[in-house]
Amino acid sequence: MAFTIAIDGPAAAGKGTIGRALAAHFGFAHLDTGLLYRATGRRTLDGIDPVEAARTLRADDLDADDLRTPEVSQAASRVAAIPEVRQALLDFQRAFARRAGGAVLDGRDIGTVICPEAEVKLFVTACDAERARRRHKEMRGGGHDVTLEEVEEDLRQRDARDSARAEAPLKPADDALRLDTSEMSIDEAVAAAVAAVERAR
Ligand code: C5P
Repeated sequence: MAFTIAIDGPAAAGKGTIGRALAAHFGFAHLDTGLLYRATGRRTLDGIDPVEAARTLRADDLDADDLRTPEVSQAASRVAAIPEVRQALLDFQRAFARRAGGAVLDGRDIGTVICPEAEVKLFVTACDAERARRRHKEMRGGGHDVTLEEVEEDLRQRDARDSARAEAPLKPADDALRLDTSEMSIDEAVAAAVAAVERAR
């Protein structure tokens, strides 16, 4: 039976961590949809046209090891504003969302566009300073030599672009449950998300 958990929110709010934890807890498959846009953006840096890059994306493009750099983040958010790119990535995400056995998808438009019929919708946020601090720590841990200021600037620019675009902008679905993780530990945020899913089951 299909059961979809849609998680949306701005960059570095905790969507990925919560999504992975929910998938593990309920035995569901997990898709970080940002990776699709990152892999597409990454290919445009090699000179490939964005729409072509999205249409010919392959599974191993999602494994490239430099998808988390600020340069690729920016490229991802630029290609994500192009309607034909979003269209090219739509069917894959919808099929994933309705697969048997349950699915968790995290991104920007999962509850609004990809899967408006999702059984559970979460809109995960955290204050700007906390999001920058977390992403900076994560990137330094991953060996990326970036400053806190560079991370802040990347998040600020992407959130502005992702929220302002005409096609599938970042915004909570009307029926999404909002989860502000600014003051929460990972365990607390995951527990709140698990409780929200349990209520819907
Ligand atoms: O989630 P992540 O930060 O990896 O996403 C990278 C970029 O991909 C975002 O800034 C956004 O522009 C785009 N994106 C999107 N829709 C999604 C997921 C990501 O537009 N569902």
